[in-house]
Amino acid sequence: RTSHILVCGGAGYIGSHLVRHLLERGHRVTVFDNLSTGHRAAVGNADFAEGDLLDSAALGRVFARAPVDAVVHFAALSIVADSVRDPERYRRNNVDGTVNLVRAMRQAGVRRLVFSSSAAVYGNAPGEWIDEEAPKQPINPYGASKAMAEDALADACRDGGLAVASLRYFNAAGAHPSGMIGESHQPETHLIPNVLRIAAGADAGPVQIFGRDYPTADGTCIRDYVHVDDLADAHRRALAWLEGRDGFHPFNLGSGRGFSVLEVLEAACRVAGRPIRSIDAPRRSGDPHRLVASITRAEQMLGWLPLCSDLDTMLETAWRWHRAPRF
Ligand code: UFG
Repeated sequence: RTSHILVCGGAGYIGSHLVRHLLERGHRVTVFDNLSTGHRAAVGNADFAEGDLLDSAALGRVFARAPVDAVVHFAALSIVADSVRDPERYRRNNVDGTVNLVRAMRQAGVRRLVFSSSAAVYGNAPGEWIDEEAPKQPINPYGASKAMAEDALADACRDGGLAVASLRYFNAAGAHPSGMIGESHQPETHLIPNVLRIAAGADAGPVQIFGRDYPTADGTCIRDYVHVDDLADAHRRALAWLEGRDGFHPFNLGSGRGFSVLEVLEAACRVAGRPIRSIDAPRRSGDPHRLVASITRAEQMLGWLPLCSDLDTMLETAWRWHRAPRF
């Protein structure tokens, strides 16, 4: 069955991959995005409304356009270092924006929401694999803003019949295999795009390796990278799973495997077929040393499998994009 999905933040990196995924499966999609970090060109053929979640009137107008079956909410700021510099801006955008969206959904009688959350809600979680029961102890304001937004959503579920799947992404990576959309942040702070932009000559480099004295095998941070197309598939499954349910349901989305910064760099050199220069740099503030997901819940409850989240597929698709980015 096809539906009409409102995708807030659908012009961004992960959002635009979901939009494409839904359009390819015959759904109707409306994107609401303020284009502060997203790209109009990333939206493709979906309906587009430019606007901000803090602008209730604009939000009301988008719900009034045509009946919406469910909402997916990506519209947030997501750079840890910026959040350390300006926590208030992160709270306003990420928390107040979410609360506004919930109010607009209530007014429009829409009850299904898939929310973009983050592994950053866990902070330095103990143990090798983090599951959804791990305590939320964010160590930076970005993670705190996602944890607060989750709490507000859980409250809204309790008193308002809302049904929320909160998808806690680990490290999104890769790009659509067509090469038409991919990751494009300004400035770029993430490891894989930084490395591949240097390999492509779009950035002079060298790659900075932020911290070599972490308590890990090679001293660099370990992350769980997951392909954006696998994330898109999980959103579509979560939308269907929420039908007829209520309450707040968190799901980790990762590959269940961790790679160090040095392992990513080495694999990127192989995929790009060229050496990539790097230098050691101090630790970046707010970085946990290891974040690897237990993904059993998403596998069992959503029937989800991260089919293209092996490191080479993520790097190859990302490389296709970074060699010839369209925006
Ligand atoms: N890193 C480098 N050099 C770089 C960029 C990153 O060494 O040029 C290191 C980082 O220190 C970190 C790892 O590579 O150890 C990954 O860093 P990213 O910036 O790519 O991603 P993060 O792990 O910081 O991602 C975190 C959370 C996500 C969250 C994201 C928001 O894990 O859940 O921040 O930007 F969504």
